[in-house]
Amino acid sequence: MTQTMAEGLVDTGHGGLIAQDWNALTFRVNREAYRSAEVFQAERERIWGHSWLYLGHETEIPKKNDYKVRTIGGKPLIFVRGGDGVVRAFLNSCPHRGTVVCRDEQGNARNFQCFYHAWTFNSSGKLSALPGDDAYAELERFKGSMDLRPVAKLDIHEGFVFISYDPDVPPLLEHLGDAADILSMAAEQSAAGMSTLPGIQRYGVKGNWKLAVENAMDGYHFSPTHNTFVGYLRETGFAVTDDDQYAYDLGNGHSMLVLTGHNGRLGMLWEPRFGEEEKERTKANREAMAQRLGQERADTIGDASRILFVWPNLLFFDLEALTIRQLEPVAPGRTDVRAWQYVPTDEDDEARAMRLKTMTSFVGPGGLATPDDIEAYEAVQRGIEASKGDTRGFNDWSDMSRGMEREAKGEKGRSIDEGAMRSFWRHWDQSLGAVPGVAATSYEGPTA
Ligand code: FES
Ligand code: FE
Repeated sequence: MTQTMAEGLVDTGHGGLIAQDWNALTFRVNREAYRSAEVFQAERERIWGHSWLYLGHETEIPKKNDYKVRTIGGKPLIFVRGGDGVVRAFLNSCPHRGTVVCRDEQGNARNFQCFYHAWTFNSSGKLSALPGDDAYAELERFKGSMDLRPVAKLDIHEGFVFISYDPDVPPLLEHLGDAADILSMAAEQSAAGMSTLPGIQRYGVKGNWKLAVENAMDGYHFSPTHNTFVGYLRETGFAVTDDDQYAYDLGNGHSMLVLTGHNGRLGMLWEPRFGEEEKERTKANREAMAQRLGQERADTIGDASRILFVWPNLLFFDLEALTIRQLEPVAPGRTDVRAWQYVPTDEDDEARAMRLKTMTSFVGPGGLATPDDIEAYEAVQRGIEASKGDTRGFNDWSDMSRGMEREAKGEKGRSIDEGAMRSFWRHWDQSLGAVPGVAATSYEGPTA
C-alpha cells in the first residue's frame, strides 16, 4: 500500500482507502473500494467470511421439509426446515464430489438426491441412502461423516435467520446490538405475528454492493434523484420535507434513518392520502397496539418510519409498507438483490392489497423510486472509471463530508447528512484492513 496523505488529512489507519480529517471536516472514499477485484476478494474473506449474514425469514419455509436455495456471501446454500421442524442451512454441495445437490429454487422435499451418483440426504442433512448393491455397507461406513455440511453458525432473532461461516463469530445478539430492537419493533407490529409473503422480487444491479448500502442511507439524494416521485407526492397532498429526519450510527456497522415527518404509513398513519375510513382503521390499530405493548412502545413503533441497515447484507424498510431487502455481491460491479414483503399475518384482503400497491409503487424494481436508485448506483459504477488511475490526487476520491460539522460537535445527524454512510465506511475500513496490491491514488488535493 502506498498512500500519501496531504498534511492534516488523516487516514483512518486501516486500509488507506478512507481518508477523514476532523480539522478540515472532510471524509473521502477512494474509488478503488468499488471497483477493485482485490478489494472484492478481501471483502469475501474478511467480511462475508466472518460476519453474521442475513439468510432469510423463517416464515419463508413455514412447513416441515420446505426449502429455498440461495447464495449468500458467494456460497450456495440450502435453507430448509427439517422433518423435525428445525430451521437449518447447509452448503449446497455434495460431500461426495462437490456437486450442487439441490438444483431447484424452492419446494418441499423430505430428501435431496444428488443427481451425479445419487447420494441421498434427508431434510435434516443426514446421508440417508446410497445407490448400488453395496449401498448398505457403504452407508454404514459413511454414517455421520458424509452428511450435508451445515453452515458454521445459525441463529434466529424474531424470525430473522442469520448465518455465519465463522465458528468463532460473537453471539448474534451481540452483533445486532441496537439493530436487534429495531427488528423487534417491526416484528411486534401485529398481535398475530408477522410473516413474509411468498412472492419475491429479484433483480441484478450493475453496481458495487456498497453503493446499494450508501443509497439506502442517503437522504441527500431523495429530492433530486426522485423528482418525479416527489412531484407525485406533492400532487397527492403529501408534505415533502427533510425536517425531522435523522440518521443514527447503531454500532457494529449498522445504521438507520428515522423519518418522523413521513406520513401515509399503512396501519400506522394514513393521513392525508387516505380517507376517513382508513383513518378510523389506523386509530383502532394504534389503540390495539398500545393496549398490547404499552403506549410508549406503540408510539415509538408507530410515529416514525425507519430504514435500517444491518451489516453487511440486510436492508429493512419500515416505510409505507415493510420490505426486507438482501444484498448479494457477485463481482465488484455486480450485485444481486432479493426483496420480500413483510406483513401482519392476520391482515385483511383490503389492507393487503393496499400494502402491495404501496410497495410496488415505491420500493419495488418497477416502482417510482427504486429504478431511480438503481440508475444512480449504476451511474456511479460507470462514472468512476473516468478517474481510475488518475495521478492528480484527489480526483479519484468520492466525498462524503456533508454534515461532518454537526457530527464533530456531537449533534444529532440529519438524514440529508452523509453521516450514516460515514459510519458504514468506517466499519468497512476496520473490518477490511489493508488489501495487498491495492494502492490508493495519493491524496494531494485541497482538504476542504
Ligand atoms: Fe454427489 Fe457424487 S457428487 S453423489
Ligand atoms: Fe432513493
